[in-house]
Amino acid sequence: MCGIVGYVGNRDVVEVLLKGLTNLEYRGYDSAGMALQDCGEVKIYKTLGKLINLKNELEAKKSELNHPTSGIGHIRWATHGSPSLINAHPHTCSCGRLVVVHNGIIENYKELREELIKKGCTFRSQTDTETIAHLVADEYAKAKDLEIAVRNSVKKLQGAYAICVMHKDVPDVIVGARKHAPMLVGIGENENFIASDTPAIIEYTKKTIYLDDNETAVVTKNSVKVTDKDGNIVEKKIEILPWEPMALSKLGYKHFMLKEIHEQPDVIRNVLNGKLYDIDSPINLSEVKLDKEILKKLNKIQIIACGTSLHAALAGKYIIEDFAGISVEVEASSEYIYRKTTTDASTLVIGVSQSGETADTITAIKQAKEKNAHVLIITNRPDSNMARLADSLIPVNAGIEVSVAATKSYTAQLISFYLLAINLAEIKGTLDKNYLKDIKHELIQLPTKIEEVLSNTSAIQECARKFSSYKNFIYIARGINLATALEGALKLKEISYINATGYAAGELKHGPIAMLDETMPVLSILVPGGITYEKVLSNSEEAKARNAKLIALTSSKDTNIDNLFDVVLRIPQVMEILSPAVTCVPLQLLAYYIAEFLGKDVDQPRNLAKSVTVE
Ligand code: AGP
Repeated sequence: MCGIVGYVGNRDVVEVLLKGLTNLEYRGYDSAGMALQDCGEVKIYKTLGKLINLKNELEAKKSELNHPTSGIGHIRWATHGSPSLINAHPHTCSCGRLVVVHNGIIENYKELREELIKKGCTFRSQTDTETIAHLVADEYAKAKDLEIAVRNSVKKLQGAYAICVMHKDVPDVIVGARKHAPMLVGIGENENFIASDTPAIIEYTKKTIYLDDNETAVVTKNSVKVTDKDGNIVEKKIEILPWEPMALSKLGYKHFMLKEIHEQPDVIRNVLNGKLYDIDSPINLSEVKLDKEILKKLNKIQIIACGTSLHAALAGKYIIEDFAGISVEVEASSEYIYRKTTTDASTLVIGVSQSGETADTITAIKQAKEKNAHVLIITNRPDSNMARLADSLIPVNAGIEVSVAATKSYTAQLISFYLLAINLAEIKGTLDKNYLKDIKHELIQLPTKIEEVLSNTSAIQECARKFSSYKNFIYIARGINLATALEGALKLKEISYINATGYAAGELKHGPIAMLDETMPVLSILVPGGITYEKVLSNSEEAKARNAKLIALTSSKDTNIDNLFDVVLRIPQVMEILSPAVTCVPLQLLAYYIAEFLGKDVDQPRNLAKSVTVE
């Protein structure tokens, strides 16, 4: 979604802003722009589409610029008003002296807009953001102080915002403010930065101050002042960012998605590190801050998440119920927040989120906290808003994920659920000792098994080539791999725009079977060792009888299935309960190669955003 970066200092301002925006572009956007303070003037540049267009525009208009000393940049993901030049940020007040960039949604913008029009303001765009520009300009006319004007203005805004404001008459000062949308300040030597997310500044500084809701920051070259809603100075802690700039490089891979798929064995090793030492020692999960006696009696867990994280949550339900015998409900955050839930002080509520910024999940977590539930957050961003709301925090340590389609963060979430479920089982004494050892042994083996899948992807590439012209797919599985079927289908939809749906294999005959013919391939996930294998095999036979083309993803060594299926993708043998960490990988690759064959924008699929910060 939208991204903001601001800079005051001696570097090439255009270069810093473009670099910052480039590092945010994985979030998804449709236009870009920047405002530069240049020798007493504010100059604005905007383009539609990718950042390269903004770069080219700035290159073409280079002669207009003397020596910019500060600026704010923005990438926009349209919410109010179509993706167009007029709606792209920055927006200005009527006289053009004040500029603003904004992430979030102003819910009362229509009322504010009417009031401002009555006062004589001329609106040019359909955006909610332009209202902020006029509002701050109006307050500035009264207060003659940009910081006070911003503080007074944001008191009138309802909704979510992270904003940066500059004024022609206040050179080299950026005023930032936030509520329900992330914003941070990067501290440098004789230079400072302000941004909506850490990748925007990581190439220049690791020293960061995170703004909290209702705070205002005044950023100049040599100073950063943070105040609360009443104007009192707030002493902020400087934190050191955990990321390396290297994380934002493709390291020779064609796409970030492919690189991130290949990182999964090491990601799993990272998650296990320090928590699972050997098969004889208990799991060390000191992150769970609930008393052991409370955990022993725990009998209700609710997991809330969206998208891929919701699929990890579904797998989490199977794992926790299997290992620890605790009843688990799984719900999409966007549903949880608009109904009467049974959450209470005895419920453990688990929020799962790669970004830690998903608006629906943040709202759900806040509601759960209001009901006094203990909130455990599983996230890849320990520096996120969601992490700050956590009573217990399991950081999944997958490293920054740039591709919009989540891959390594999914496996990291899965592994976190295995650790949590084993931890609960050890506290409750619900697992047989030998079974527990087998699970731990297999968990430690998972990275090697995934490496085996990644070391030879030719069959997956061949399958992708063969099936890339189909318009519809069905993915089926039973048991814990239902989560894999849903996630595999989501990956295909997201990056290739092919219609793919995951079903519990047993549900096929209750409706979807009506769609089957030679145009609808069915991909079956078959992991032997449990009770689901034979059943999924029968369901695949039913599909074959309706002329569907069949793809098997299996760890079975049985060569008879090669006669039933058109393509058989084999994975190493793995315990069924742990298999989702392995079965998801070929499906990520299949989606990747199909999208690649079709020439799609793999890392930045249309209409999608990495952090969905609107409800
Ligand atoms: C995953 O490939 C998607 N981009 C999307 O479904 C994502 O998982 C969802 O928006 C939730 O995001 P979160 O994990 O950051 O909360």
